Amino acid sequence: MSVSKALPHDSATLHVTGAARYIDDIPTPPGTLHLAFGLSDAARGVIASADLSAVRAAPGVVAVLTAADLDRPTDCSPAAHDEPLLATGEVHYHGQPIFLVIATSHRAARAAARLGEIVIDPRPAILSIDDALAAGSHFEGGPLTWVRGDVEAALAEAAHVIEGEIEIGGQEHFYLEGQAALALPGEAGEMQVHSSTQHPTEVQHKVAEALGVHMSAVRVETRRMGGGFGGKESQGNWLAVACAVAAQKTGRPCKMRYDRDDDMTITGKRHDLRIRYRAGVNAGGRLLGVDFTHHVRAGWSADLTAPVADRAMLHADNAYFIPALRIESHRLRTNTASATAFRGFGGPQGMLGIERVIDHVAHHLGLDPLAVRRKNFYTKTKVQETHYGQPVKGFVLPDMVKVLVDSSNYEERRAAIAAWNAENDVLKRGIALTPVKFGISFTLTHLNQAGALVHVYQDGSVHLNHGGTEMGQGLNQKVAQVAASAFGIGMGRVQITATDTHKVPNTSATAASSGSDLNGMAVKAACDEIRGRMARYLSATHGLKPRQIAFKGGKVHVGGLRLSFTEAAKACYEGRVSLSATGFYKTPEISWDRSTGTGHPFYYFALGAAVTEVVIDTLSGEYRLLRTDILHDVGESLNPAIDMGQIEGGFVQGAGWLTTEELVWDDEGRLRTHAPSTYKIPTASDMPEVFNIALWGEPNSLPTIYRSKAVGEPPLMLGISALMALSDAVAACGTDYPALDAPATPERVLMAARRVRR
Ligand code: MTE
Ligand code: MOS
Repeated sequence: MSVSKALPHDSATLHVTGAARYIDDIPTPPGTLHLAFGLSDAARGVIASADLSAVRAAPGVVAVLTAADLDRPTDCSPAAHDEPLLATGEVHYHGQPIFLVIATSHRAARAAARLGEIVIDPRPAILSIDDALAAGSHFEGGPLTWVRGDVEAALAEAAHVIEGEIEIGGQEHFYLEGQAALALPGEAGEMQVHSSTQHPTEVQHKVAEALGVHMSAVRVETRRMGGGFGGKESQGNWLAVACAVAAQKTGRPCKMRYDRDDDMTITGKRHDLRIRYRAGVNAGGRLLGVDFTHHVRAGWSADLTAPVADRAMLHADNAYFIPALRIESHRLRTNTASATAFRGFGGPQGMLGIERVIDHVAHHLGLDPLAVRRKNFYTKTKVQETHYGQPVKGFVLPDMVKVLVDSSNYEERRAAIAAWNAENDVLKRGIALTPVKFGISFTLTHLNQAGALVHVYQDGSVHLNHGGTEMGQGLNQKVAQVAASAFGIGMGRVQITATDTHKVPNTSATAASSGSDLNGMAVKAACDEIRGRMARYLSATHGLKPRQIAFKGGKVHVGGLRLSFTEAAKACYEGRVSLSATGFYKTPEISWDRSTGTGHPFYYFALGAAVTEVVIDTLSGEYRLLRTDILHDVGESLNPAIDMGQIEGGFVQGAGWLTTEELVWDDEGRLRTHAPSTYKIPTASDMPEVFNIALWGEPNSLPTIYRSKAVGEPPLMLGISALMALSDAVAACGTDYPALDAPATPERVLMAARRVRR
């Protein structure tokens, strides 16, 4: 069976040879026009005047559009209708699109876009969390608060109460392929759009709205993205809508791609947060009550902030049972790019809050942070409920941690590091083990559905289509393995095809790590349907029962007869059997109420743990990741090679977020780190020198696709171990708690080491 085989990514060879086709590689028809936005150079203000005559006169320019030139209000937001394609009178952040240049080449469009003379009457910009709090600049009217138990009573009874605050920086997605779209106008108002999007249906919806046509007239296709990481869940709408509007106006194909600086300036990033905490523990380090305040910097528009901030609240417990918990979440509107989905979708920030609390408690009590973590884990024997009331069933994390502690020699290494630190003044080492419990399902419950379309052709080949999108995570390969397994055929017969809103309608974004869970099941349903029809026909024609037909090893067993799959398909075709079917799946057992924060939002939890060891130079703040050991739960893996890649990449991306990736805005609200020269993602040389990853092989206890578990986002949060190991190393410099903010850049490590030494 193809499922569970460690096959390489289906496009691996295409990726490394440069033959994989991205939007920018699609040959464009003659006459294709190219677009660029003219951007706001103020963070907030009113457009006093716009002189675009130089733009219009620039070489190659065919047309220039402002909001006034659009036939109808044109919105790019995922839901709130608060993101006009082109600014209408006011600007809300530095980098906001004000006008659209349509030109004969990409360069001509970009060059002309800089010639606009826009005068903006500045208004006081709200840039920081403090600005927003002072101005009362909240989305949703004010904070959302969830409460379990009586936190104040718990704190009053606690032997120790600790208080603190952690600043958690945002993160640029840094997908290798920038945002891009290509729109091809058809006859009678039809529009075909190629979009680098995780959410083709939303692009279809937004394009239809912008063109004033039905969704059925708009076809969106996505073959693959060169990375999305959440940054192409909603932010690709702008380019697709711009191209479609320009294509409708000019009647010519229109293409747009952002260059890297524009991409980083225009599009939103991971939300940065400030988390305040007060935590009460007993003498042994058992948590009695925690009070969290989340300050979430959302940027200028709503985008996906509400569900992101909800997910931060839903992960405020991480792996720990907290008897009394109060979380107050402020979603703050600021004059910065609109923060958006990013791998983990708020979960990582929420989780980091409680990991910081545990680290702080352990330091305060002089205990090994791992001992405090273990003391507070949910238990397997007695099922406990999360703060939102979902039972944590089959919680194997404590068992996983035991295995990881042994395989990584945690205890011996911790003792050795303490001894080494006692001997060394300049260099200090640190080690930390952190767990991950991540909820799997879209918290907007109705999104937990998927469709598929499968055809078997008369030559025995299979055309595979589903609503998920490929962004490098290997979804298509996993789902193709599901299809091959269903028919008992080799992978060579399964044709992976581009995601296409004309084949599978009403899809959800490929997000929340649910791509293979949802689409795998939908594809299996379609394949099972066709297989059932084939079995019924072949059994009837051979005087057998359908259950006497088996599909395996590339053959169809018809009683004692062995047909090749091709022969069987041909026979069914000639017998006038429909060999095409749709499949559908919806996740069972989920429902909750976000206003009270109660219910069963997740179908199950993905689990993992990581141990990271670091060394810091206390004179310069520089550091290295020496070793990381990971044990991660993917259930019964659909493809261990792909899953290992997701775990490796997720960890490194998470460690990057918390160490070197720093976003800096200046006092004018300009993002100063808008290129790789100033924004440092991890490189190959930043990988841990020793990197051991193992899969926890237990099947999912729930009937997911072949009992696998989602893997896309959870490993990112294993990167928290790197930050906690740095905290441990800095703590070795003195007696005070390091209180390291994130990202723990070398500068922050240096300053923390100085603070702790004093
Ligand atoms: N892996 C690669 N290589 N590229 C990506 O863009 N996105 C991540 C994760 N892994 C991403 C990735 C995010 S944010 C999500 S939600 C999941 O993949 C989405 O895919 P899945 O649901 O199929 O796991
Ligand atoms: Mo992933 S942040 O859910 O696209």
